[in-house]
Amino acid sequence: MKWNQVEFEASYGLFEQIPPCETIEFAFSGRSNVGKSSLINKIFNRKSIARVSSMPGKTTTINFFRLENIRFADLPGYGYAKVAKTEKKRWSELIGNYLHSDRDIVLVLQLVDIRHAPTKDDLQMIDYLIESETPFVIVLTKADKLGNRQKEERLAALKTEIPYADQITMIPTSAETGEGMEQIREIIEELAQA
Ligand code: GTP
Ligand code: MG
Repeated sequence: MKWNQVEFEASYGLFEQIPPCETIEFAFSGRSNVGKSSLINKIFNRKSIARVSSMPGKTTTINFFRLENIRFADLPGYGYAKVAKTEKKRWSELIGNYLHSDRDIVLVLQLVDIRHAPTKDDLQMIDYLIESETPFVIVLTKADKLGNRQKEERLAALKTEIPYADQITMIPTSAETGEGMEQIREIIEELAQA
């Protein structure tokens, strides 16, 4: 795949606005500020196809990107405290409706910050993915912020913090160093060909 040829398609603030699904889709999910947009840029080798911000709550819509016959969805980050209740409701409905829909979602990339235990919201998402039998992997972000020893410690801890951890693919990544990108690209390519 020519990764850097990805194109921005459109943004939607309400589920009803999203056009019918005509391609397979990969979705990036995770709490606000965990690094979804940065990861997307790194996977595709593009500086800013997805908007990155140090302020949490940057992505408030579902943003679709298109590469060949695949669509990628950057979901709005959940769990950001400083947002009005009505906004939070809109986000959670948007994410929930999207994931519950009959769209052809072949994989959810669920992002979790490698430095911390998963939040309550992360665990709720992971539970939902397991319950609904949605195929997913866990992408551990910001690995560059840890030394080797700390990284090993966190990887061991995550095995106890995440349910069914031994059955879940977990990929340490960094949007700074590019760690893990090749593994993610391989997973996407393999599923896209299936
Ligand atoms: P929302 O759009 O608010 O949901 O956030 P997001 O999940 O898209 O996060 P985003 O990619 O905007 O990144 C948030 C902050 O984390 C930015 O300041 C990024 O530069 C930083 N960041 C993201 N990934 C990494 C990483 O792998 N390493 C380091 N050191 N910083 C990162
Ligand atoms: Mg974002």
